[in-house]
Amino acid sequence: MSVNRQILLKSRPEGAPGLDNFELVERPIPEPGEGELLMRTLYLSLDPYMRGRMSAAKSYAKPAEVGQPMVGGTVGEVVRSRHPQYAAGDTVLGFGGWQQYATSNGVGLRKLDPKAAPLSTALGVLGMPGMTAYVGLTEIGQPKPGETVAVAAASGAVGSVVGQIARIKGCRAIGIAGGSDKCRFVREELGFDACVDHRAPDFAQQLAAACPNGIDVYFENVGGAVQQTVWPLLNDFARVPVCGLIAQYNLTSPMGGPDMFTVLRKRLLLRGFIVSDFADKRDEFLREASEWVRSGRLKYREDIVEGLERAPAAFLGLLQGKNFGKLLVKVG
Ligand SMILES: NC(=O)c1ccc[n+]([C@@H]2O[C@H](COP(=O)([O-])OP(=O)(O)OC[C@H]3O[C@@H](n4cnc5c(N)ncnc54)[C@H](OP(=O)(O)O)[C@@H]3O)[C@@H](O)[C@H]2O)c1
Repeated sequence: MSVNRQILLKSRPEGAPGLDNFELVERPIPEPGEGELLMRTLYLSLDPYMRGRMSAAKSYAKPAEVGQPMVGGTVGEVVRSRHPQYAAGDTVLGFGGWQQYATSNGVGLRKLDPKAAPLSTALGVLGMPGMTAYVGLTEIGQPKPGETVAVAAASGAVGSVVGQIARIKGCRAIGIAGGSDKCRFVREELGFDACVDHRAPDFAQQLAAACPNGIDVYFENVGGAVQQTVWPLLNDFARVPVCGLIAQYNLTSPMGGPDMFTVLRKRLLLRGFIVSDFADKRDEFLREASEWVRSGRLKYREDIVEGLERAPAAFLGLLQGKNFGKLLVKVG
């Protein structure tokens, strides 16, 4: 237990990333300095935004550095502390990255109560993805009872929460997902009104049939071909929280955007957002979502991969739809 296994960003990908962009190394476990603590990673979250961090292109956040551990949210256990507010044995939500051990000066760290909810949920349904769904839908989507809310990647970390909150708000929830197993789960386990497979040859007809009254809120998670299929179904005054464009993350040249005549003619509201824009909603989100999870109104599925060395392959799978639920690596 004297080494710190890390997965470094070895090189920046052009187009789709591959295993050769990552490197597993063993380094000494760092010593926490004065005012710091050392955490042992229990769970590492794998998220689509990490594709953006692998690139040096200008974005809302700094890129990961080549030769450094990949960045990522973690749940960890404090093993040594020289920080006044943390003690060995505390469980914390932090940003330890793709490695077994990380030091922190406490900035951005939050203590977790292991009895309140399973620790992994702090990275999923009760964490960044759940909050993304909550703020994007309620603040920008503004769903009203009886309206139709559509979301893609519907079995995933964000999409699954979007549709369930839409149902809680009295809306009709339409999921879009890759494959019949995911669609069945979205309908039967998560309780969406319908879910359509975007890989089906008659996807457009199936989606139109599932939305007889059109779409009032399209929670944009994927872009690409799915967006183009959804677009004609948007109603006048529809709202489009633009959360993610995972189908376009590996493109090396920009894709044509949505038809602006439709935006004008239908008076659409499109707004891009990053979850941190709504940081002041965190307590409200945690209060509401924790209660919904406890009462069974908000269900979640996790896809847990065992072992840090499997993180690169699992992450590449996420960009191809191979994960089924919130993707996590069990490190410790
Ligand atoms: N704005 C923010 O602050 C923020 C925060 C968190 C996440 N996001 C974004 O939200 C979206 C969902 O993230 P997540 O963490 O919940 O991931 P996720 O849904 O758990 O996993 C990604 C899913 O995306 C779908 N996908 C991948 N490639 C696709 C393609 N070419 N066409 C259509 N679907 C594709 C796959 O689902 P299927 O097999 O069902 O197609 C895959 O399982 C991402 O775009 C992410 O970047 C944004």
